[in-house]
Amino acid sequence: MALLADRLKRIKPSPTLAVAAKAKALKAEGRDIIDLGLGEPDFDTPDFVKDGAIAAIKAGQTKYTVVDGTPELKKAICAKFKRENGLDYVPEQVSVGNGGKQVLFNALLASVNPGDEVIIPAPYWVSYPDMVMFAEGTPVIVQGAQENGFKITAEQLQKAITPKTKWVILNSPSNPTGAAYTVAEMKALTDVLVKNPHVYVMSDDIYEHLVYDGFSFKTPAQIEPSLYERTLTVNGVSKAYSMTGWRIGYAAGPKDLIKAMALLQSQSTSNPCSVSQAAAVTALNGYQSFLDGWRKTYAERRDLVVGLLNKADGITCPKPEGAFYVYASCAGAIGKQTPSGKVIATDEDFVTYLLESEGVACVHGGAFGLSPYFRISYATSTKALEDACTRIQRACSVLRKREAETAPRGAIFIVIPISGGCRDRPGFCLSSTFGTHQSHAAGAG
Ligand SMILES: Cc1ncc(COP(=O)(O)O)c(C=O)c1O
Repeated sequence: MALLADRLKRIKPSPTLAVAAKAKALKAEGRDIIDLGLGEPDFDTPDFVKDGAIAAIKAGQTKYTVVDGTPELKKAICAKFKRENGLDYVPEQVSVGNGGKQVLFNALLASVNPGDEVIIPAPYWVSYPDMVMFAEGTPVIVQGAQENGFKITAEQLQKAITPKTKWVILNSPSNPTGAAYTVAEMKALTDVLVKNPHVYVMSDDIYEHLVYDGFSFKTPAQIEPSLYERTLTVNGVSKAYSMTGWRIGYAAGPKDLIKAMALLQSQSTSNPCSVSQAAAVTALNGYQSFLDGWRKTYAERRDLVVGLLNKADGITCPKPEGAFYVYASCAGAIGKQTPSGKVIATDEDFVTYLLESEGVACVHGGAFGLSPYFRISYATSTKALEDACTRIQRACSVLRKREAETAPRGAIFIVIPISGGCRDRPGFCLSSTFGTHQSHAAGAG
């Protein structure tokens, strides 16, 4: 009898964590690596938050708590939703988990039945499709085209909805593109959802505070109050307060779902760390003005990276509205040859080339469901970013057109990458509008 369960076959390791592990391993070998792979702020957790945690330890808040969050934290979360999003929740509508990741996982596992469809706009955060598949649901991928700022349109959303649709997962600002929906763009989507009352909305707002150039963030339940009853609004302290290691995420939504999520958590991890919960109370209730400085720094870094990448041969990089990522096209490098003679056939080849030749770690677009792109996290020092972009420029400048004699007669060197979700997982992509990414029916491609 096989040791491992069949259900494990439905999921794969997180590609972003895999890049981080590879970069760490190369560093350990003494290589000079700049890691732009992981979505983690480089700022330290603010001192007032750390002080809150120390005070909690000293006050003996070191024991089990209520499974899905202390009353103090749930109160702070309700206050946050009221203050920042104009949403009214009571503690019974709030769930706290070990990061937004566990909250999303709990929500999907608690609500998705085999065969239920979950609409996921691509490019998507790497974990959404795997979580859906682990819950025996079917991810339905809708491609946000670069020409539309990597966002999906109302028409695309309507087309993807079927009687089997359970959820649509919206993530604005987005990981991996940094794209954020304006109020008008989000309203167009919520209008579609109003007309489809069987569809629930999961809004992952974890990058809510990281928007630039005066962008106005609004969450779907705020934009369309009639969706309140069927929306789960997910957030957390990882990105806004630079608290990735503390593992606190939360959500607010329908009481039945929140209760089911607590049941699941009670039989898996129990409560999130008591000290981290106390720290999260301090963060949410504390002064938020430090964020202005962080936003200013992030926006400067974004502009720097976009400017430098657009100077690299074969790279085009749009300027995103938020988060701390850029999603650059490497279409101009595809089909070219490296100095060692290897042909870059996919965006995965491209990022492998960057890592091996210049020691720059980033994640290929295939991991996020749209090729040929690569994601750079600019949550690192300006110096490291300048250095990394210079290295990328250098790596791109030495790529050459494939030599004619190696080409079969009449061949056209346009490679249509099908890496990532579609190639690895047949039957996974439903809808695509972007030219270089092929749409696959079950088993095709
Ligand atoms: C879009 C998105 N949602 C959720 C998460 C989960 O974050 P955490 O589990 O640290 O709260 C991440 C982390 O990278 C993310 O990028």
